[in-house]
Amino acid sequence: MSASHLDFYGQFQISPVRQDISDLERHFQRRQALYRHLGILPEHVAGRRVCEVGPGSGYNSIYTASLRPVYYELVEGNPTGIAQIRELFAGYPQWTTDIEITPARIEDYRATAPFDLVFCEGVLTGVTNPEEILNALALAVKPGGVLVLSCVDHLSQFPETIRRVFADLVTDAGQTLERKVDIILPLVSPHLQTLTGMSRRHDDWVIDNLIHPGSIIPLINFPEVIATLAHEFQFLASSPHFVQDWRWYKDIVGERYDFSHNAIEQYWAQAHNLMDYRVSMPPRDPAANMRLYDLCTEARLRVERFEQRREPSLLVEFGELLEAIIADLSSVSVPTGAALSEAAQLLRAGTPEKLAGAGMFATLFGRGMQYLSLTREG
Ligand SMILES: C[S@@+](CC[C@H](N)C(=O)[O-])C[C@H]1O[C@@H](n2cnc3c(N)ncnc32)[C@H](O)[C@@H]1O
Repeated sequence: MSASHLDFYGQFQISPVRQDISDLERHFQRRQALYRHLGILPEHVAGRRVCEVGPGSGYNSIYTASLRPVYYELVEGNPTGIAQIRELFAGYPQWTTDIEITPARIEDYRATAPFDLVFCEGVLTGVTNPEEILNALALAVKPGGVLVLSCVDHLSQFPETIRRVFADLVTDAGQTLERKVDIILPLVSPHLQTLTGMSRRHDDWVIDNLIHPGSIIPLINFPEVIATLAHEFQFLASSPHFVQDWRWYKDIVGERYDFSHNAIEQYWAQAHNLMDYRVSMPPRDPAANMRLYDLCTEARLRVERFEQRREPSLLVEFGELLEAIIADLSSVSVPTGAALSEAAQLLRAGTPEKLAGAGMFATLFGRGMQYLSLTREG
């Protein structure tokens, strides 16, 4: 099975990103909160040329459309997603009738004119060519314009990597997608129910996070995204809002006119906070977080290889790496250590089917996606 979003969604003719937006006011508030974190107010969208790459089934696009951009183009490479966008938009004609939908991969797309704002949400996870995609996105942003991206990384995704091991153990590669969902869903649904803000369908979440081969491949992280774009873009803001900048603005001049370097430094001082969304810890030594990140990367690699080879020794190595992660995090966050230890215990006992009842691990989720906005320097 291919690891890319487009191949996987195309193979099964799915677009597993549906959301419950029956309470439209709450949906719009969530989007407004995200945009605000990113430094984008409704007035920054109204009357602007806006592009969204990888809108999926279009749930988030309705909010952006409601802000009345002068031109709004959606670039989506999945025909099933496009069909669902058209179906969804039919229910919101007051905002969506003028939206241009371009069926294309971003790598093959050339904007007729650059955009004030380009959004690309949930795409960098599950692609094997993130740098190529970033370069294609950069071309679509006009000088002075803003690019919004989201990334997920090996630390923020680590609780899902653990759930993925359980999912691998209770299913086998020959089963159909539907069968796998039927088996995995009851094990993780009680966990997902603890996320009060979750608007996404649980079955879609299972497919996208625990089955899709693209969600276990190596991920591009926040510092790597910023560094890839650093030749033309400066960091503006992030969600969550973890980047502090205590510099006196009058010092940010000449060679010191730079926002990206500070954002990368802040990421490494704060990265341990990505593992457990329930807690917020003070910054710590960036070197400790780099070691923690490496452990998560190595552990994740074992899971990716296990899915290809099914060699039990890979899970033994995963268990050893998990113990090292527990040892590190227990010293800074007791509930995080306890939750991880409970999962490790279930794996050691060879009882993956007991995942649903894991009381402490049930509420452990990472901080998932980090969003960032960047400005294209003139
Ligand atoms: C995980 S979904 C995210 C959907 C939506 N942005 C959201 O946040 O709900 C990723 C979307 O990006 C699309 N996509 C992935 N790679 C793409 C590419 N190279 N060019 C255009 N679209 C792509 C997929 O088809 C899918 O609809």
